[in-house]
Amino acid sequence: MGHRIGIVGLPGLASHLANAGFEVVSADGFAAAATTVRQAIQSGLRFPILVADVDDPSAPAAAAANWVAGASTTTDTLVVRLDTAAGFPTQNEVTTPITVEALLACVGLDGYTRGGTLSGADTVTVPAQPAPVKVETPTPHPSTSPGDTVLTEWAPRRGRHSAQPAPPTDTYKPASTTRAQTILSFAGKGGVGKTTAALMLAQHAAAHGPDGFRVTLIDGNRGQGDIRTYLGIYRAPLATVYDVVLTGEPGTALVTPAAIADHRRPDVEHIDFALAAAPPGDAAREVPASAYAAVIEHARSVSDLVVIDTQIMEEADNPMWDGIFIPLLMTGAWGMAVTGPSSPSLTNMIERVRTLRARGVPADSLLWFLNGADGNGQALADTAQKHVGIDARCMGVAAADPSVAALMSEGRLPTDNADLKRVVFSVLEQVTGHDEFAPVTAEPRRRGFLGRWR
Ligand SMILES: Nc1ncnc2c1ncn2[C@@H]1O[C@H](COP(=O)(O)OP(=O)(O)OP(=O)(O)O)[C@@H](O)[C@H]1O
Ligand SMILES: [Mg+2]
Repeated sequence: MGHRIGIVGLPGLASHLANAGFEVVSADGFAAAATTVRQAIQSGLRFPILVADVDDPSAPAAAAANWVAGASTTTDTLVVRLDTAAGFPTQNEVTTPITVEALLACVGLDGYTRGGTLSGADTVTVPAQPAPVKVETPTPHPSTSPGDTVLTEWAPRRGRHSAQPAPPTDTYKPASTTRAQTILSFAGKGGVGKTTAALMLAQHAAAHGPDGFRVTLIDGNRGQGDIRTYLGIYRAPLATVYDVVLTGEPGTALVTPAAIADHRRPDVEHIDFALAAAPPGDAAREVPASAYAAVIEHARSVSDLVVIDTQIMEEADNPMWDGIFIPLLMTGAWGMAVTGPSSPSLTNMIERVRTLRARGVPADSLLWFLNGADGNGQALADTAQKHVGIDARCMGVAAADPSVAALMSEGRLPTDNADLKRVVFSVLEQVTGHDEFAPVTAEPRRRGFLGRWR
């Protein structure tokens, strides 16, 4: 058997080296290869690793690459990241195209005699005379970004988390012993303020709750989650729910307030909640509802309050709604419906509330509020409440305010918006029972950082 080498995201090179007699640690597909390599490292094997890099640091391939590199920081494993889009490799300052021999020399491997040359698209060609290339000293151990810090590494209150991959089924049975209160922000229509409400619930709860009150916001909009965009961290190399697919550990999806702060502009407010961000667009289809279920359950075991932003609740079957959100609402989670002032939006909210009630969600768990009202929003809300009847309670009205959208488009949060604050505080008081969220006449006192979740 020849030298052992780990290869992630470079299938052409993997098969070429296998044919050349190397013991290649890899698998088909980026995530599978990353998992195989990581498991080999965890089992104590030491070998150099070549990992394909990608331009978009939030892409799934980059998540996998970061993750393998993360393993290397605690071992003596050497990882070289190769940028397949820009040519090979950039990070270690080797010019492209590169001979396979020179590439292997970068990671200290000799014994390769086939003379192949590697160029940008992960193809290995075998020229008669390999072109000479300039090789500079490789930088060992490219480190992971500080943003890779995950909740499991620092949370004093460690929760249960499985070392096994997430269960394959899409059915979710909420654990009976979870302790965090949970609120789902939902609507039957798009663009009415579900995400705005979820952000306000999480930020106000974390900033104004009792000392040490821990809040986790989960972007449950699997297909089009935009919380990272609203926080201005879309391209930041931070974990998302996709990481759970790679690691099998739900805690790896949670990003701490400190890690969020590291990647936000310095001139914006501090985010006080932990976040489980939605997978980047093209990775969403690889994330089963069961991975979300595991993240939610984990978050509930390490938080005092979990806020979940959801995707539009449609009539049609939806594994997130049928498999996770409805079971949660049936077992003690709170639903906060958001509606705009238009009649289709109001009708939709009323219908969705009825659907949930018909599916067995208790009326006591359902709240709603009117967002983006103009004119006499309260009169509109009173009329709507008559139609909703006892099925859900109105928590107030927030007027349309152009500065809300303006702030959010700049990556800021509209925490000073008095209407949203009043509505969110009533919801938080109802859900948590904490006096800190009781209506106040003066500005609520802001706590120091001590005791805050950082
Ligand atoms: N009270 C308000 N006044 C003015 N603009 C608002 C208000 N609330 C939310 N918005 C703006 O409306 C837009 C849509 O809000 P948001 O993304 O929260 O809606 P959503 O229901 O989550 O949408 P989607 O269905 O796409 O997930 C955003 O630009 C947001 O800033
Ligand atoms: Mg949204």
